Amino acid sequence: MNIQTRKPGAVAEVDEDTPLVTAVLTGDATAEDLESVRRHASVYVYETPVRLWHWINAAAILVLIVTGWLIANPPPTMQIGEAANQFVFGYIRFAHFAAAMIMTAGFFGRIYWAFMGNHHSKQMFRLPILNRHWWSEVFFEIRWYLLLEKEPKKYIGHNPLAQLAMFFFMTLGLSFMIVSGFALYAEGSGQGSLPDILLGWVIPLVGSSQTLHGLHQLGMWAIVVFVMIHIYVAVREDIMSRQSIVSTMISGHRTFKDDRRD
Ligand code: HEM
Ligand code: HEM
Repeated sequence: MNIQTRKPGAVAEVDEDTPLVTAVLTGDATAEDLESVRRHASVYVYETPVRLWHWINAAAILVLIVTGWLIANPPPTMQIGEAANQFVFGYIRFAHFAAAMIMTAGFFGRIYWAFMGNHHSKQMFRLPILNRHWWSEVFFEIRWYLLLEKEPKKYIGHNPLAQLAMFFFMTLGLSFMIVSGFALYAEGSGQGSLPDILLGWVIPLVGSSQTLHGLHQLGMWAIVVFVMIHIYVAVREDIMSRQSIVSTMISGHRTFKDDRRD
């Protein structure tokens, strides 16, 4: 049984098989359209904190990549000109550190939400590596992305390949960037400062500040590769898959384009 609206304001319970009587509310809908509407429900997948985190994190990472690249390839600092122009590199580093704080706070908030949120909010942190069916879907997705499968599967949350990529590049990748970044930051904030007390040991662990700079930069390139593939795949799947993708990370709702079995 489901609830259908007969005319604005009037609600009645009717049998599943009865065609919808909402034509009056849905413009020029045909019987076929109405049947399709009746079958396609949406599932609320990504809760507000997950979506907010996604877009704030994406913006912070873009700032970190641009400013990080400039730190690694510095523009000339001494110019003949206004005193304000001499502080260009200072502004670049300030933007890097400000975005770093936002990204770090967001990441801790996202971990908190993995405990408080729904089942899908945990996906990025937990890989079901002992589940054979999950692995078979990982390989299915690789074949689908390589155009070797004819029809994609349907997923409510992330598909297993996306989950794998998010775990390695984001969960582990961002953790690495936070640890290495704050260890480098400790050099500037000085001995005895909080970053130094928490992460000062990382530099002697890897050998030198120079090595850690190199590793931190390498981490950036891994994230750049992830972002490029991620955006390509999000747009591609929005068009080619059987479900909503980009709008799901905006509204939180997953809708399906057909009601065939997966
Ligand atoms: C720096 C840029 C970006 C980063 C680092 C990033 C990272 C992520 C991460 C970590 C998730 C998993 C979310 C979670 O489970 O909490 C995700 C999901 C998603 N992202 Fe991004 N993202 C970026 C940019 C974008 C852009 C520009 C788009 C849109 C074209 C996009 C579309 C999506 C979509 C649609 C999902 C959900 C996929 C699904 O439904 O399974 N992302 N992204
Ligand atoms: C997605 C995250 C991040 C990216 C892509 C990124 C990227 C970079 C890059 C490419 C560099 C230049 C490395 C070099 O010297 O060759 C750099 C430097 C640095 N980053 Fe990050 N970073 C990120 C996160 C962080 C975080 C969370 C912090 C913590 C505060 C941080 C602090 C620093 C510091 C202190 C430096 C050295 C600045 C200097 O020597 O002037 N970074 N970053």
